[in-house]
Amino acid sequence: MPAPLAPGHLPLIGNLYSMRTAPLATLTRALRENGDVSRVEFPGGHRGHFLFHPDHVRAVLVDHAKQVSKDTPGFSALRLLLGNGLVTSDGAFWLRQRRIAQPAFHRAKIFALGARMVELTKRTAEEWTVAAKAGAPIDVAESMMRLTLRVVADTMLGQDVERDAAGVGRAITYLLHALNQRIVRPWAPPVSWPTPGNKRFMEARDNVGRVVDEAIARKRAKPDSPGGEFLRMLIEARDEESGEAMTDQQLRDEVVTIFGAGHETTANLLAWTWSWLSQMPDVRRRMHAELDAVLGDRDATAEDYPKLPYTRAVLAESLRLTPVVWLISRRVEQEITLGDLTLPARSLAFLSPYATHRHPTFWDNPEGFDPGRFLEGAGSTRPTLAYFPFGAGPRKCIGDTFALVEATLVLATLARRFEPELPPGMLPVPEPVITMRPRGGLPMRVRLRS
Ligand code: HEM
Repeated sequence: MPAPLAPGHLPLIGNLYSMRTAPLATLTRALRENGDVSRVEFPGGHRGHFLFHPDHVRAVLVDHAKQVSKDTPGFSALRLLLGNGLVTSDGAFWLRQRRIAQPAFHRAKIFALGARMVELTKRTAEEWTVAAKAGAPIDVAESMMRLTLRVVADTMLGQDVERDAAGVGRAITYLLHALNQRIVRPWAPPVSWPTPGNKRFMEARDNVGRVVDEAIARKRAKPDSPGGEFLRMLIEARDEESGEAMTDQQLRDEVVTIFGAGHETTANLLAWTWSWLSQMPDVRRRMHAELDAVLGDRDATAEDYPKLPYTRAVLAESLRLTPVVWLISRRVEQEITLGDLTLPARSLAFLSPYATHRHPTFWDNPEGFDPGRFLEGAGSTRPTLAYFPFGAGPRKCIGDTFALVEATLVLATLARRFEPELPPGMLPVPEPVITMRPRGGLPMRVRLRS
């Protein structure tokens, strides 16, 4: 028997309207009303399934990874910005790029960047001190976006890029929003049509491309300039068989990918975490107690990372309830059979950290914010993939350690000094664009901790 249709299905347009106007509610209603599997349909003959059970997540992302591709409407739109970089490419091309990039993300290399991450966070601390003394609210979401952009620009791409980072960050944020419109509106005019929206999109994309090309040229000219380990590795990489270097276009795609994937995600994780901490005084107190005990009045270093289990659990719980990547899509290339369920060739498979992280079979009190679930000894028997904020299998996030080390050090450095507070009564609303961010930002008042 076919799985039930997801809620909000309408004649002709199928699930387009509900996924466009209320995607998170559609996903959670589908889980509540239909259970682990729902069918979805979109105009243009696109059909597929929502798959919420951890076994299904494993089947699509791990066991049958070779039978699925990223040939989906979401990734096609993303390709307009990221080109054929690591996030969007597939097959042999992707594998080669992943092998080249992997060494830059080695745990020891990420830990070695810790001191620089803390240095860059101290600049944000200076800005927050000024705001705290003036009693002026600041947009903490935007502040985190600027900080993580600075970190990725400096550490992965080289300090020279940092100069232009703010402009690139704004352009990428705009481009991600524009792309989202494209994903949810399949009748968007092709990019080659000279509509005002398309022109603006192309201009922003070309601006990003220009800054990136200049950064590549500077690094080529001065490979030993400070920072930019990742960029240097990409420039120096050679194909094992042909000995060829990456073309300028390939280099550009990977750099824009790292700019895009590497800052927006971690910034939103931090933004949501500040929001949760402001709403959960007990959690905040316990985290402060850990920071005070481990750090006293010094700043964190990467060596402190293993010594801050509660702070890390706060971030993990934030990624459970407000997972920045809330939906992962795949095209099934060869039919997959999962017990009674068949995923036909050419159908779409949608996996949702947002829904699965709330699955009542695997999580007690799913809506409650409780970092204790992630502490050692919490005694969980959950399947591993009941929690997959970084995806799973061969396409798992290459930057997961980078993100978690960075977020822990940023949180420790700032939370030791400050307590950001949401305005009374404000409950931030998730805006699920390509990543999930707090709608309208987070206007918070930052109090200095005495
Ligand atoms: C909290 C922060 C982050 C989250 C939640 C996150 C989440 C994810 C997820 C879910 C995927 C898999 C997408 C899929 O299977 O379709 C992914 C892939 C990827 N992420 Fe992240 N990410 C984060 C931070 C980062 C950072 C800091 C970097 C780089 C510095 C990065 C670079 C990438 C790349 C290059 C891929 C594609 C990997 C591949 O397919 O080989 N991410 N990320």
